[in-house]
Amino acid sequence: MKKYALILAAGKGTRMRTELPKCAYPILKKPMISYIIENIERSTIDEICVIVGHKKEVLKEILGDRVIYAEQTEQLGTGHAVLSAAPQLEDKKGVTFILPGDMPLMEYPLMDKLLRAHQEMGNDLTVVTMDMEYPKGYGRIVRNEYGSVIGIVEENDCNEFQKQIKEVNSSVYIVDNQLLFEYVRKIEKNDRKGEYYLTDIVKLMHQDHKVNTFMVRNPMITMGINDLYGISTAEKYLRDFINKGHMLNGVSIVNPETVTIGHNVIIEEGVWIYPNTTIMGNSLIKKGATVGPNSEIVDSIIHEKAEIRHSIVLESEVGENTTVGPFAHLRGHAVIGKNNRVGNFVEIKKSTTGEGTKAAHLIYIGDSTVGKNVNFGCGSVTVNYDGVKKHQTVIGDDVFVGCNVNLIAPIKIEDNVFIAAGSTVTHDVPKGAMAIARNKQINKEDYAKHFIKAKDDHK
Ligand code: UD1
Ligand code: CA
Repeated sequence: MKKYALILAAGKGTRMRTELPKCAYPILKKPMISYIIENIERSTIDEICVIVGHKKEVLKEILGDRVIYAEQTEQLGTGHAVLSAAPQLEDKKGVTFILPGDMPLMEYPLMDKLLRAHQEMGNDLTVVTMDMEYPKGYGRIVRNEYGSVIGIVEENDCNEFQKQIKEVNSSVYIVDNQLLFEYVRKIEKNDRKGEYYLTDIVKLMHQDHKVNTFMVRNPMITMGINDLYGISTAEKYLRDFINKGHMLNGVSIVNPETVTIGHNVIIEEGVWIYPNTTIMGNSLIKKGATVGPNSEIVDSIIHEKAEIRHSIVLESEVGENTTVGPFAHLRGHAVIGKNNRVGNFVEIKKSTTGEGTKAAHLIYIGDSTVGKNVNFGCGSVTVNYDGVKKHQTVIGDDVFVGCNVNLIAPIKIEDNVFIAAGSTVTHDVPKGAMAIARNKQINKEDYAKHFIKAKDDHK
């Protein structure tokens, strides 16, 4: 049996009050719709059709050709949205899994479980429901005296009795594909709102077909996000869910409510994460590393036993046993070797360093290839930018760069070089040389008293 996913993502999301369309809005920096698609891709579903309409280019840009699209040109309700996928799906045999585009927290094992339940129960339509303590805003599940579901009533169409019903519609449906299109065509416009409600399919189908509900245990997962508060609620849930997963895998997280880890981050066991830390994108944190407090890691690899404190690491790599911070900034493919030290107020951009290199305080290294056991003195700078272009600095092994040295790129410093403090080095330095490029010091004997006297006179 072929399985299709149909995602409703054409709505305006008026309640969001944001420029971005709702389904493209990010949660933990990833668009809501991407969570849904990634999970469906991991499930047993064969084909994905996304219904787009309002700001469709934004969603198409995010999803590219991973899915097929149907277009709902006018937003006339969820029933109308499904009907606009008729050209793509109507002729197909199989079962269709309908998901709203504002429900990003359902993971693929639950999707598969719901599909299995639908088949095992022999249903024609399964409506996924949940029990809500405060059901406000959701469609209520209406049952007859035998307990069979006979309809869904939207909040605003509920009578006082129906308003008390706590079992609500999640907007997830599993339905025989051909019956879906047969019945969705029969849905009539809701007078009050002027929209075609997909929910009406229950009332239309239940007499002639087997319509059942499946109640999910955790209503957070099937929560629909309608506004920015909903976004924050989902984000909080997801953060806790992700952190819990890492903790159960042997990652220690101190004050986890202040630690935010993206959906695609991989963390090995024995890692410690301290408060106020964010790890995002395709980052990998390897065994025994320590990250935080107050750090931000994006799209980076932190190797075994490295330590990152109060620092920012973007699209970079930190070698085994290396310490970074406090207050360091690695970016643009900085690849730091093993046993390095990157200390306070050090920025490293698009550079590599060999094993055992140290840059302990107030240093800029950019567009450089640095060897092993190099020591950068306080305040040393690779001067990579001439106002127009960026240039390369190449430094060999066992080089000592004194304090406040400027290396004017392009420049090559060979192995075992010693550069005197305060030098502005404009030419390559050969292996084993000492470079000194600063004015000679003059001591004027007995001269200081003039200044000291001038100071006294001034008082
Ligand atoms: C819907 C359900 C409600 C359910 C709730 C669960 C209906 C009529 N109501 O209400 O029973 O309890 O979800 O969260 O179905 N969309 C379109 N085209 C449209 C309108 C909406 O594609 O013309 C999409 C939206 O982009 C959204 C999804 O459908 O992703 C749901 O729409 P929304 O307006 O959020 O429905 P709710 O009012 O939350
Ligand atoms: Ca909704």
